[in-house]
Amino acid sequence: MIATDPTIEAEAERLLQALMHVECDPHGRKWNLDTCREIAPLTLEINRLKKEKDAVILTHSYVEPEIVYGVGDFKGDSYFLSLKAKEAKAKVIVFAGVVFMAETAKILSPDALVVVPDRHSGCSLADSITGEDVRRMKAAYPDAAVVCYINSTAEVKAECDVCVTSGNVYDIVAKLPQRRIIFVPDRLMAENIRSELKRRGVDKEIISSDGTCMVHEEFTVEQIAEARAQFPGLKVVSHPECTAEVAAASDFVGSTGAMMKYVKSTKAPYFLMLTECGLVGRLEVEDPEKNFIGGCRLCPYMKMNTLEKVRDALKAPRPNQIVTLDEELRLRAERCIDRMFELTEPAPSAAS
Ligand code: 13P
Ligand code: SF4
Repeated sequence: MIATDPTIEAEAERLLQALMHVECDPHGRKWNLDTCREIAPLTLEINRLKKEKDAVILTHSYVEPEIVYGVGDFKGDSYFLSLKAKEAKAKVIVFAGVVFMAETAKILSPDALVVVPDRHSGCSLADSITGEDVRRMKAAYPDAAVVCYINSTAEVKAECDVCVTSGNVYDIVAKLPQRRIIFVPDRLMAENIRSELKRRGVDKEIISSDGTCMVHEEFTVEQIAEARAQFPGLKVVSHPECTAEVAAASDFVGSTGAMMKYVKSTKAPYFLMLTECGLVGRLEVEDPEKNFIGGCRLCPYMKMNTLEKVRDALKAPRPNQIVTLDEELRLRAERCIDRMFELTEPAPSAAS
């Protein structure tokens, strides 16, 4: 009989309590005591390093479940994680998400060492526009308020008046005194802003750039129609990075935090989640009674995060895992995000 290490056994049991519910695993893994035993030494090491280094790990809901439930201190959507980054007192912040999120954490917590597990974890939205592009738009529409979605670089944020997230975008844009709004970088979210503000009777002209989320732009109304025909009583839940047609055909549209809340508070035989598959994994863990019919998609950038890379970034970060920002640019970007916090009342509850 093979001798078992009681510390590893206890950690494997702890991991199993969450992971056993995950069916929508990005690698098709089935979590059981054996697979949990395999990762337990690594999660133990990371959790030990966290204490040693005075570190906190922020995890976006899209990253792999063993990171979210194995080592994450806070899990949620962009708004919630930005708040946590701002409040963080730790010396080190590991951001398991994508680079623009880690940059946002550095903008808000400049004294912390902010590290990102994989420097190549970009985002098709954030990578679609530069600060220079925004300056050109501002020159063309000098009377406009300049609003950026949080999925943008620090350089872009530094050019903007206010930042928004998927959880507060409609309320903030509606509140701005200017009628004309430059909105970057998401063209599809801009379409959703137009239709939502029209529905609310708010008159705004939205000028947008041409970025899209490579994950959410792929969902279609045909997919929704087929799913509804096959699964009577289905609830369709989508993100505002989807097309306006998909949003209009959905039962609920919101940030990933709001999508989770909606599913948890809604009785329905089936749910179709038009977002990244990590969110389905989270719901399977936290609301195991619900049925998800598939149809979600993977974000290749979010999936660049692994436990090994989290460990390495914590233990001895390579220079390209450390987020650094020019201080003058950081201060301008911080003003743009702080304006978002001021205009978000009450704070959208995105944690779960
Ligand atoms: P949330 O802020 O809703 O989590 O969205 C982040 C994101 O990147 C969605 O693709
Ligand atoms: Fe960017 Fe889309 Fe990935 Fe979110 S899901 S990080 S918006 S590419």
